[in-house]
Amino acid sequence: MSANIFLAPPSIFYGTGAIMEASDKLASLGKKALIVSGKSAVRLDYVKQVTDILEQSNIESVVYDNIDAEPDDGHVSKGVEFYQSNSCDFLIAIGGGSPLDAAKAIGLMLTNSGQISDYMGLGKVKEAIPPLVAIPTTAGTGSEVTQYTIINDISNDVKMLIGSPYLIPKVAIVDPLLTVSVPSGVTAATGIDALTHAIEGYTSIKNQPLTDNLALSAISRIANNLRVACSEGDNQEARTEMILAAMEAGMVINNSSVTLVHGMSRPIGALFHVPHGVSNALLLGECLDYAKEGHLERFSQVAKAMGVSDKGSDLELATAGIEEIKNLCADIGIPDILDLGIDKEEFLAQLDKMANDALASGSPANTYCQPTKSDIIEIYKQLL
Ligand SMILES: NC(=O)c1ccc[n+]([C@@H]2O[C@H](COP(=O)([O-])OP(=O)(O)OC[C@H]3O[C@@H](n4cnc5c(N)ncnc54)[C@H](O)[C@@H]3O)[C@@H](O)[C@H]2O)c1
Ligand SMILES: [Fe+2]
Repeated sequence: MSANIFLAPPSIFYGTGAIMEASDKLASLGKKALIVSGKSAVRLDYVKQVTDILEQSNIESVVYDNIDAEPDDGHVSKGVEFYQSNSCDFLIAIGGGSPLDAAKAIGLMLTNSGQISDYMGLGKVKEAIPPLVAIPTTAGTGSEVTQYTIINDISNDVKMLIGSPYLIPKVAIVDPLLTVSVPSGVTAATGIDALTHAIEGYTSIKNQPLTDNLALSAISRIANNLRVACSEGDNQEARTEMILAAMEAGMVINNSSVTLVHGMSRPIGALFHVPHGVSNALLLGECLDYAKEGHLERFSQVAKAMGVSDKGSDLELATAGIEEIKNLCADIGIPDILDLGIDKEEFLAQLDKMANDALASGSPANTYCQPTKSDIIEIYKQLL
């Protein structure tokens, strides 16, 4: 075994009631918090749960609730101004991956100079960010445990991947009760995002023993619970399994990276404003069909974790597993690319830029079958 490093937040509180369990920790990180969220977390009183805890410990807070969509550089600079003008000294993010990522990027720009785009890529952040608490309200991105933030660079239509150990939250608080209100369509998209993380990390050239078990566990939790979480939103058991899976899958990509699907998904998100989980889901089946030949044995393990029969050759199992993933996407109502209102001609006109941006992100190079630019263009065409 070659040497590996496994990174995770120093404290993870998880399970029903995790927010209350973490109250002493929450109140120990500073004197005034900037709470980064979106309108849904305010409306559902999730933000109030946090401010109540802070008030009990005489910790002040202000709420920046502008992150209702996937964040861009403008959201980040406004958040930095808000933090500074309110003399905050730590960050609490509560919401889907969008507010969590926004808070990481705000933290980055508070302690590092220049523009957010200067930090695109891995390992470019120089200084530690203020203490950050991440509280997810979707079961998908796993951002609460990852070193990544994804920020739209509006002027260049690029979804920037920024990764640094400094961006790993100090505290993650993972409470399934915060996800029972997620609508079915968002549950489906975010659940497929988590599934994609687990499969990509497991089949990445950067796979490692510690993430292998987390990945297979996440895949089987999702195979067994995502349909129920979508059809019965208040099923707490399914919600618990899904948020555990999302966290496991977050730890997988934090240490073993994503591959082809995420590399190709970000350009679709940047140019056509498709939610992240949906753009992954559109690509998942086609990308796995392409990638499976690179490591049939790993793809057959994915199939077994998905619950398909364990009889047959690695090729037969890998193929059956990918069919099961396509069935899952269909059962939970993942739309077709043309149903999303994307114009076919416009999509074809962007193929060159999308393929270049996908390759430039570095993620496709983590795939065992190393895709070329023309392979990537062919996969994009198969979506139409
Ligand atoms: N940092 C990482 O490691 C990482 C990994 C994968 C994806 N991402 C990024 O995360 C972003 C997507 O995050 P997301 O998929 O969680 O979506 P999101 O945060 O954009 O939320 C999607 C929608 O769900 C709503 N919502 C969230 N929680 C809710 C709740 N509990 N009840 C009702 N509504 C709720 C939001 O208001 C929003 O309208 C993308 O920008 C993606 O690129 C980051
Ligand atoms: Fe993702």
